[in-house]
Amino acid sequence: MANCFRPHFLASFAVMALFSSSAMAAPSPQGQDQNKAPHPLAWAYAVQEAGPPPPPPTDDADVKQIPDSTQSFTMKQIRDTGNPVDWFPGDHPQMPTIVAHRRSPNANPWIGSCGLCHYPNGKGRPENAGVAGLPEGYILEQLSDFKNGARKTADPGKRNTATMAGNAAGITDEEAKAAAQYFASMKMTPWIKVVEVETVPKTKNVGGFFVPIEGSETEPLGQRILEMPVNPEATEKYRNPRSGWIAYAPMGSVKKGEDLVVRGGAGKTVACAACHGEGLKGNGNFPPLAGRSPSYLARQLYDIQQYTRNGPGTQLMRPVVEKLTPDDILAITAYLASLEP
Ligand code: HEC
Ligand code: HEC
Repeated sequence: MANCFRPHFLASFAVMALFSSSAMAAPSPQGQDQNKAPHPLAWAYAVQEAGPPPPPPTDDADVKQIPDSTQSFTMKQIRDTGNPVDWFPGDHPQMPTIVAHRRSPNANPWIGSCGLCHYPNGKGRPENAGVAGLPEGYILEQLSDFKNGARKTADPGKRNTATMAGNAAGITDEEAKAAAQYFASMKMTPWIKVVEVETVPKTKNVGGFFVPIEGSETEPLGQRILEMPVNPEATEKYRNPRSGWIAYAPMGSVKKGEDLVVRGGAGKTVACAACHGEGLKGNGNFPPLAGRSPSYLARQLYDIQQYTRNGPGTQLMRPVVEKLTPDDILAITAYLASLEP
């Protein structure tokens, strides 16, 4: 699986030589102290505090429709995690079976139906990942890293990362290839709008992302990025895969991030386009960064910094993340999310 990936770096990027000495640095001695005050990047992991389980959904027989879709489904179908509804079959090529359906109802309940979390169009949500338009070789490498335990989350409270790893471990090589080809074949299109603000509506965490609490109360945003659905009902209730996101970011963060991404922030990091391509739209098997979820990207930078994401390709990111502070990570991801994918 990794074959198509590593030689590509070696062959195509002389820039790699610059980094080879630090690429093999020993793992960071600073683990995460679970007892410390709130994590500075808690907004990116959006771990939901354990609460009472939600009441069982009351079902109704009505068929539901959403704007611009010719499909109709019952709430039972919309909530079916094994056969995620496909509101817009014309938006994507035919899904491979592993993307469209849970593999076996009697096996691990979470293997397959990639389209449930990542959506049939691959655009994903902040609590998982946008995978549309990622290079095929990169996707296969990540599936292999998840499977081998080289890619974990730095915040074990974020349990869906383990579910993702279970997926990668539970599928066959053929299924991995089919899913990778499928998601790589689609283009990522604009999905997230970055808006700089001082205050935000008070929000609640609904399983890994934020929605405004009813009413008009606001609070200071502080040093956070909060990603919210443009239309909470469309996202939460109907899983409308055309309904996008707003990322509220602190004033000035996009500009600060631009300096770090474009110029390396006077030696603090390394200009990203050298590997991630012009406009940060990806290059060969280097993944695109433009227009992607800031929460997702921030988790990755922090996971890499904490050595919980530590696959073969990750080594090239070592000098990039070494000196970044949580505020730098926030600014970088606000800027990247603001770019056109
Ligand atoms: C239960 C939800 C869920 C399902 C089902 C799921 N994933 Fe994921 N996936 C995630 C989450 C969550 C992450 C990001 C983890 C993180 O941020 O720590 C992720 C990340 C990924 C990534 C990494 C993207 C990147 O840019 O590096 C790939 C690739 C991926 N998933 C592919 C798949 C494929 C293929 C399937 C089906 C076989 C699948 N996923 C099924 C939740 C899911
Ligand atoms: C020397 C090449 C190189 C440079 C320079 C570089 N990257 Fe990367 N980046 C990579 C590689 C290779 C990966 C894939 C890592 C893996 O497989 O785990 C990656 C992955 C990432 C990811 C995870 C993407 C995903 O889909 O999960 C993020 C976020 C990222 N880079 C951000 C940056 C930023 C921000 C900069 C500039 C400040 C930067 N990178 C500079 C090589 C580079």
